[in-house]
Amino acid sequence: MSISRAFLEYFETEFFQGKPEEFEAFQKSLLRPLKKTLRINSERVNPTEFKNKRSAEGWTLSPTENALAFRVDREDTATALWSTLEHLLGDFYVQELSASMSVWHLAEGGTGPYRKWGDSFLMLDMASSPGGKTTQLLEHFPNSFVVANEFAKERISSLIENVERMGTSDRTGITNMNGVLFGALPETFDRVLLDAPCSGEGIGFKAEESLKYWNVKNVKTIARLQEKLFVAGLSALKTGGEMLYSTCTLNRFENEGVLENVASAFPGTFETVFQKKFWPHAEGAGGFFVAKIKKAAPLPENEKIFRRSKNDGLSKISDRDADRIREALENLGTPDFGEKTHHFYRYRNDVIAVRKVNGVPELADACYFLKFGERIGRLEEGKFEANWSLGKNRDLRNVAKLLLRDEKELHRYLSGFETELVADSRDSTGPIPNGEKVVAAPSNHANLAQIVYRDRFLGLERIKNGKITNSFPKEWRRK
Ligand SMILES: C[S@@+](CC[C@H](N)C(=O)[O-])C[C@H]1O[C@@H](n2cnc3c(N)ncnc32)[C@H](O)[C@@H]1O
Repeated sequence: MSISRAFLEYFETEFFQGKPEEFEAFQKSLLRPLKKTLRINSERVNPTEFKNKRSAEGWTLSPTENALAFRVDREDTATALWSTLEHLLGDFYVQELSASMSVWHLAEGGTGPYRKWGDSFLMLDMASSPGGKTTQLLEHFPNSFVVANEFAKERISSLIENVERMGTSDRTGITNMNGVLFGALPETFDRVLLDAPCSGEGIGFKAEESLKYWNVKNVKTIARLQEKLFVAGLSALKTGGEMLYSTCTLNRFENEGVLENVASAFPGTFETVFQKKFWPHAEGAGGFFVAKIKKAAPLPENEKIFRRSKNDGLSKISDRDADRIREALENLGTPDFGEKTHHFYRYRNDVIAVRKVNGVPELADACYFLKFGERIGRLEEGKFEANWSLGKNRDLRNVAKLLLRDEKELHRYLSGFETELVADSRDSTGPIPNGEKVVAAPSNHANLAQIVYRDRFLGLERIKNGKITNSFPKEWRRK
């Protein structure tokens, strides 16, 4: 693979004058494939337990500077990493190490141990697909709500999948627009992440064209887009709030150049708290750049361009219906979605649970969400019917369990096959010996079964004509 001459000349002149050995090491590092890294979802699993279980299965997880990110090697790779049960259940996210650092820097300013913040923030992730950082933001700020925006339509489905898989949907609203439009929501968000579209020099090992066809004109064009996005993010940020600007590229037109140009166009509106460029030959990871800024003063007001009419169909659920839904959830045996933590909305017949965070109801009125909160069921003639996903990763204590006995049965379920097995012991209660099929179904949920493998809850299914439906999402199915 070749690297463009223009790229080499620019980098040698700008950064490596009189340092031929380092320049050589830099060039080599650009194309060197990196070991896969995964980020453990500490909201879902205990990291130590996860590591112990995986190492018993022949995985080697080597630590990195991000306490939750590990380089991974597996002895048995017959099942692809993304197809393992743990991945499907959102126990981890496969994420390039350098990519996993941006949110860490927003949360910690580049120092200190991994920490969860109790604050209830309204956050904006301006360029978010496939969602690595959206889901990571919510791990650091679990009581917050993120507006995850992505401009490219074809990248929205992977964003939705990841947000659902990692269990953050009730705290996420997905929008599909040019991030520049967020400038029209001034002083709205407590935190903003701009993980900008960039020229990708730091990830040349997986995006060869970025080095092969590199030229200054393209780089300047993308730097101009970043400036616009930066200004929009800065406008949407509350004064006193913090924004993280990150790229996976190394030149000075993007990165430092963007910061300088915005600072001179809007003097006194922000200060840079922390800024660092990570060189791939020095870090042994992909190259990237982060800058954390704090907003010092509002920007000149922008025109308001969001319109209420776009969210037609989405409405807050009446108190009476909300009480009914809560009663139904209690009946199923889940303590989640309490009055203190969640609002309910309705889109047509769908019931949507949304985490209570200041400013979210106003946002639901102000901008159009492609997906808003977590769909937990439907209201049919005033009656609540739970979704498959309600039975994923939570014990519905009053619902019968269908235990998958071995890897083969698990594989069938994850591949989308119907299960024929319906037990006769439906009125039995109490603990279930492994290997039995359906148990402990109270009479009022006789048509429901929750699928369980080992100690993991896979989803909620319906029993129809002696068969269990398979609602495992098509996009996650094993092939
Ligand atoms: C570096 S990637 C984001 C990666 C993501 N933050 C993650 O961690 O998974 C940049 C994203 O910006 C999107 N994008 C490009 N132009 C945009 C714009 N004008 N507004 C919003 N997003 C844009 C791209 O489609 C791409 O998905």
